[in-house]
Amino acid sequence: MTKLSIELSENNVGCYVKTNLKNITHEEIQEIKKLLNKHSVLFFKEQHLNPQEYIRFASNFGKPAEYPMLKPHKDFKDIYVIERKKSDKGIGFGIGAHTDSSYMNNPPRFTFLQAIQVPEEGKGNTLFYNQFLAYEALPNEIKNKIENLEGVFSSQGKIARTRVQREVEHGTNNTKEIRSKHKLVQSIDDRKAIYCSPGHIVEIANQNSDQKKLIDFLTSHQTKKDFSFSFAWKKGDIAVWSNKSMLHAATIYNGDRKMFRITVQ
Ligand SMILES: [Fe+2]
Repeated sequence: MTKLSIELSENNVGCYVKTNLKNITHEEIQEIKKLLNKHSVLFFKEQHLNPQEYIRFASNFGKPAEYPMLKPHKDFKDIYVIERKKSDKGIGFGIGAHTDSSYMNNPPRFTFLQAIQVPEEGKGNTLFYNQFLAYEALPNEIKNKIENLEGVFSSQGKIARTRVQREVEHGTNNTKEIRSKHKLVQSIDDRKAIYCSPGHIVEIANQNSDQKKLIDFLTSHQTKKDFSFSFAWKKGDIAVWSNKSMLHAATIYNGDRKMFRITVQ
């Protein structure tokens, strides 16, 4: 079996994979799936896939999912355009740590992001927070406490305000709140990760006392610098991450930026 060449990112938050996705083999796809489960986020530099090639690549990892809040790309229904212009006012889309659509019963397993247009280097980075590492660094007392707890996640959680501008332009007018419960600890290949989307969590199920304290503790622990990496985009780059074991956040910037997003179930 061929071995793909990889390079770990800062703080072991994911890794860079050196390959050409235009000519990817079935064998390499299988290897990438293993790498994704292990490292939670993979970065493929300067790939320049066209939309058909990009959708084909993403479809190897699951069925492209519908995003309930925005309309898709006009020609490619599996692609959602995340765009910000220099002249845009207000806070950008996806600011604040979260995992995608945790308010759904069946959230997308993986998210793909492709850089179509980026502002100058160092602007418009995406932050990633490795939740395997965050779980492993928890005190035993907290690990035991959260083992069987469920979080309640809402589409009206605090990140909702970052969607306002995108919804004005491309929204589906889906104003109904969507809520879902998920276990706060998820296992992937026998490794545990914290699953608690800070942008969506509103309560912990069946916990009356001190739940606010626990949410505050978890969300600040999850986003510590020790588990984080700031990815600087170049045009053509593709990142793919596991929504079960990685949090991400857009950063605040002023400039023209356009990304194509695909989520798969
Ligand atoms: Fe996101």
